[in-house]
Amino acid sequence: MKDFRTIWLNESGYVEVIDQRILPHKLEIIQLRTHKDAVDAIKNMTVRGAPLIGATAAYGVYLAVREMIEKEFDGNFLDSAFEELKASRPTAVNLFWALDKMRECLDKSDNFLADSLSQANSIVSDDIETCRMIGVHGLPLLEEISLHKQGKTINILTHCNAGMLGCIQWGTITSPIYQAHLKGIKVHVWVDETRPRNQGSNLTAYELTRHGIPHTLIVDNTGGHLMQHGMVDMVIVGTDRTTRNGDVANKIGTYLKALSAKDNNIPFYVALPSTSLDMNIRDGLTEIPIEERDQNEVKYLTGLRSDGQIDSILICPETTSARNYGFDVTPARLVSGLITERGVCEANENGILSLFPEFSIQSI
Ligand code: MRU
Repeated sequence: MKDFRTIWLNESGYVEVIDQRILPHKLEIIQLRTHKDAVDAIKNMTVRGAPLIGATAAYGVYLAVREMIEKEFDGNFLDSAFEELKASRPTAVNLFWALDKMRECLDKSDNFLADSLSQANSIVSDDIETCRMIGVHGLPLLEEISLHKQGKTINILTHCNAGMLGCIQWGTITSPIYQAHLKGIKVHVWVDETRPRNQGSNLTAYELTRHGIPHTLIVDNTGGHLMQHGMVDMVIVGTDRTTRNGDVANKIGTYLKALSAKDNNIPFYVALPSTSLDMNIRDGLTEIPIEERDQNEVKYLTGLRSDGQIDSILICPETTSARNYGFDVTPARLVSGLITERGVCEANENGILSLFPEFSIQSI
């Protein structure tokens, strides 16, 4: 686990990330030298996944501080860097959380360069430990199912990528899975391909392969059928933003999985770091901004040609228009529980406050 992570600093103090747009076909590293590079990497989804978006934005602020010092810009430069980073993607609350942390740090700093770097580094190292703890707390849920099934393989369905590629290491949904696998519990993962950008087939399948976890790729509409036939024991997904009431925004299509799980009496869990909680809002449906992306992500499919080149092909009449909503909201009533770094709780205000009492003062 330790030798593979999604973001780090190189010897020259620049940020490096894995280019997630070309996985699993090519493993390439991209260097981010300016805050604009960080903005672009978030926007064009070189990096994605709520915790990694937050970490990249944090390093983006550190890069902006570096530019400001090197080029002798004034404080307005830093303010506009914050604004550009804030506007890079709208749904994952980790982005705004990380930027608030960086702002707080700079507000009381008399050494911007050292302090912004150490704050960004600690956002990253905290996320690693947080994800490890999500696994520690999620593991008993898997152990219980395994016991119930007398050691037979547990079938877990997931949507999108809430693995280490969406975080720094461990991942959220993958942390209990990796820890169960390390303990010898038999796990198998149904991987939704997750159109339109295929984070399931490109990223989740890639990292499960790297970790030796048995898995099977399915098209997005298969989950309901599998659940009706007793082929899913549990659904675990990640989240980009979960409200005070426990409503969960996650990759488009998550809601349909939750409905099928409810109809088939299958536990539906959300694995999240507390940095993905937005305690300032309650109603996910009306209050969470849902990103709408370029229609060409729906109209074109990207993959590997037989000559080894990555290419895109059109899959509809050229003039057909498409809508591309990035996320949907699963109402709290469909969520069996939240798996966090401090334990598992009900998806509602009392549940969240039982684990994170410090959020009660921030009442709305
Ligand atoms: O559009 P993406 O790839 O950034 O969407 C990612 C997801 O929906 C993840 O499930 C979520 O960010 C959780 S990552 C631990």
